[in-house]
Amino acid sequence: MSTVTHDAPDFELSEELKMLRDSVRDFSDHEITPGAAARDANHEFPTEIIKRCAEMQLMGITIPELYGGAGLGNLALSIVLEEINRADASVGVTLSVHNSLLGGPILKFGTDELKKKYLPRLASGEALGAYALTEPQAGSDSANLRLKAEKKGDRWILNGTKIWITSGDRAGLMIIFARTDTTVSKAKGITAFVVETASKGFKVGKQEEKCGIRSSSTVEIICEDLEVPDANRLGGPGDGFKIAMDTLDGGRIGIASQSLGIHRACLEASIKYAKERKQFEQPIGEFQAIQWKIADMATDLDAGRLLTHRAAWLRDRGLPCSREASMAKLFASRACNRAADETVQIYGGAGYTKDFAVERYYRDARITEIYEGVTDIQRLVIARGYLK
Ligand code: CAA
Repeated sequence: MSTVTHDAPDFELSEELKMLRDSVRDFSDHEITPGAAARDANHEFPTEIIKRCAEMQLMGITIPELYGGAGLGNLALSIVLEEINRADASVGVTLSVHNSLLGGPILKFGTDELKKKYLPRLASGEALGAYALTEPQAGSDSANLRLKAEKKGDRWILNGTKIWITSGDRAGLMIIFARTDTTVSKAKGITAFVVETASKGFKVGKQEEKCGIRSSSTVEIICEDLEVPDANRLGGPGDGFKIAMDTLDGGRIGIASQSLGIHRACLEASIKYAKERKQFEQPIGEFQAIQWKIADMATDLDAGRLLTHRAAWLRDRGLPCSREASMAKLFASRACNRAADETVQIYGGAGYTKDFAVERYYRDARITEIYEGVTDIQRLVIARGYLK
């Protein structure tokens, strides 16, 4: 007799998801990992890899087939992102932002017209997506944004600056959050727009030189009398902040998945080195000090994945998941940083050189605790969920 009850959680991935995971792992091993170190060293944007991702239907994972997407969900997206980030976190963040911060909100909040116009372009990879929320005075305090949009007839005129925009100079489409009303509370006066970056008045400013994810692009965006048709408004006037936050619920699952990918790369590298490297006439993996590090890393990885898959599962069912997405990102990003630190330690002097990928993992891991809400903002969201 089966001991499985109908309400028991299912820890087994479906055959479809296992096949997806295996094919993306194979793609990552053969086409992403080999050039990752060189792209990192040269700050080289992974243009060709993004084209290959489009051919593999990875640019519209949650976009319905009707619009040319893969018609899968957030769990599938998480699995794909873990595999890609295990190979190269710069490719990983580019894909995460594209899928979760642009495709996601157009699908959820867009009119039929917007969906028909833009989702096929995103899914085919014709246009890369970006998300422009942050400003110099509005980092953690997103509601404090100032980029202004004024209505003129059936158009909006945008003026202002955004910073730290992932893929901002590569994107064909971008969501820009703008202040449209200064007479209401800060969060209620924000509106979201889908902007074609070829529009007159869209300018790219400073390109950031970063510590990690160096082959992804992070830039300043300047809007100078940028005209956006009212039809490109996402949601109603004043809905922008809630759209931004709901979108980040999905994005945080993406960054948790990125953390899992980097973490797994660290664990695999640590196991390999622990078996190969000999000191005191034995592989260092024979020492309990190394075994404990590997045991902790592996346990943290599984815990982070369970939290991340739970959050994705909730989002796929349209259930509230802000708190769970923040828990996943909080735990997985911190665990990933601990794992990267321990991996460099296991490698010792070798881990501090460019001879091995682990120094890249260490640099790339750091951003997971920063973007899409710093660690303490995740704690704030989680605590508010309990205390409200
Ligand atoms: N979904 C829907 N609505 C939400 C929501 C969510 N997840 N979270 C909040 N809201 C609603 C609230 O219910 C509230 O609505 P009412 O007024 O109707 O009650 C409204 O939004 C305002 O919410 P708060 O009072 O909680 O707003 P706040 O100003 O206190 O800010 C915050 C909350 C959590 C601190 C938020 O500002 C935040 O998440 N900050 C972090 C910013 C961030 O993550 N930036 C990432 C930049 S993008 C990026 O990094 C991408 C990249 O390049 C990789």
